[in-house]
Amino acid sequence: MHVAVIGTGYVGLVTGACLAHLGHSVICVDNNPAKIEGLQRGRLPIYEPGLEELVRRGSASGQLRFTTDLRSGIENSQVIFIAVGTPALPSGDPDLRYVEAVAREIGQHLDEQYRVIVNKSTVPIGSGDWVRMIILDGAAEAAKQRFNSSGESHLEELRQAGNPETVTGQGSVATLQGSRWMPHFDVVSNPEFLREGSAIHDTFNPDRIVVGSDSERAIEIMQQLYEPILSRQGGLSGDPVPWVVTDLASAEMIKYAANAFLATKISFINEIANICERTGADVTQVADGIGLDKRIGRAFLNAGLGWGGSCFPKDVAALIQTAADYGYEARLLRATVEVNQEQRQRLVEKLQQALKVLKGKTIGLLGLTFKPNTDDMRDAPSLSLIEHLHKLGAKVKAYDPVVSGSGIREGLAHVVVETDVLRLAQDCDALVLVTEWQEFQTLDYGRLAGLMRRPLLIDGRNCLDRQALRQVGMTVLGVGW
Ligand SMILES: NC(=O)c1ccc[n+]([C@@H]2O[C@H](COP(=O)([O-])OP(=O)(O)OC[C@H]3O[C@@H](n4cnc5c(N)ncnc54)[C@H](O)[C@@H]3O)[C@@H](O)[C@H]2O)c1
Repeated sequence: MHVAVIGTGYVGLVTGACLAHLGHSVICVDNNPAKIEGLQRGRLPIYEPGLEELVRRGSASGQLRFTTDLRSGIENSQVIFIAVGTPALPSGDPDLRYVEAVAREIGQHLDEQYRVIVNKSTVPIGSGDWVRMIILDGAAEAAKQRFNSSGESHLEELRQAGNPETVTGQGSVATLQGSRWMPHFDVVSNPEFLREGSAIHDTFNPDRIVVGSDSERAIEIMQQLYEPILSRQGGLSGDPVPWVVTDLASAEMIKYAANAFLATKISFINEIANICERTGADVTQVADGIGLDKRIGRAFLNAGLGWGGSCFPKDVAALIQTAADYGYEARLLRATVEVNQEQRQRLVEKLQQALKVLKGKTIGLLGLTFKPNTDDMRDAPSLSLIEHLHKLGAKVKAYDPVVSGSGIREGLAHVVVETDVLRLAQDCDALVLVTEWQEFQTLDYGRLAGLMRRPLLIDGRNCLDRQALRQVGMTVLGVGW
């Protein structure tokens, strides 16, 4: 199947590379020329385990191509994915300007061929119909331009015939009907559930694939597209993947509800952790104990610094805002956000209790990214910690397995990024484990303790062996014990 993926970021690039691997002919489109030029030369714009190899193989076989030209990208494509960013606005609403720009441009370049246009970007409930409207607007604008440039005065004829919508230049459908041509497409919602750090595994092995549409034809095409994953072809093993067909609005809501639930589960265990600290219980033991209950499950019950990243914060904010738009106050979700914000503040308070005045102290952060195995720094808890500590007059240093060597420095003005962990520990008054990278499990903490001014470590993810750390002379604090 010929597929175009517009937006070559964490979602678009992974989707494109995986679909190409499954035998589809994929063209990835991005309006960032540096990104596309790099990809054409085999240079990846993001860090995601396994992606470089997949892109290399796809490019070599010709199944995966890259362009900045949306028109040529969608020319032969039966399925067009929209996978551009939808970052949060200060109001909490997602910024839909990138989706809008792409939808309009798609509309401008549609021809007689039937297309399925797939919203993979996370967009608010109702966006499917809105995207359809924007595409029609784009198609109408292009039709208008074609008339003008060919010297036809068809619109003038319509005006004279008294078509009010066309007279005001508003009604895209009326304009298109006037042009005696209607683009032929359906909009489908296909929310993405991949996790950065294991994005390729998640794409090939999803828990479910959700498709929202009222068009049987579009659903059938989407099923053909995903067939290798659904029925475990092409070297994929395991049980068939559930295929979930819904209406457009429900598919959009599934994405928001899933992220809101996971964020709430983390905030829940963090609240329990805060009560554990005051009562002498150990949240790790509590999480194991409740996680064995099949109705609860152990996943997402790790107390710590809280959630961040490019999805949870903006998706929970968007759902709260959508609820407000429809006259409902999402109290539980608001509390989820508050608990999460306070969790970062609590870690600073722990440092204050241990070190008293932070002014003039040196704090070393182990990890900067919002989670391991990614280079994504969007809404990372490390960023708010850095700001807090900087404001209190502390010197902040950090080491991150990917960021340290990547040249990424956005948002890192108030931190010294070290290139190795020994330099990080040198003269620190405390280390804080911020991101649970695997390599932090096997550090020589005895040696680090010897380099520090004070051998204090706060495990902000409860992921290290406390006993082992104490045995090598480190004072250890954690979250919820
Ligand atoms: N990152 C994740 O883990 C994840 C998971 C699930 C869903 N999502 C959702 O997927 C969407 C994309 O997220 P992402 O993290 O991949 O974003 P991203 O910022 O990494 O990538 C977006 C890409 O779109 C490109 N772009 C913007 N405007 C464009 C235009 N007019 N034409 C062509 N390209 C354009 C940008 O240059 C960028 O490369 C968002 O809605 C996000 O919420 C993300």
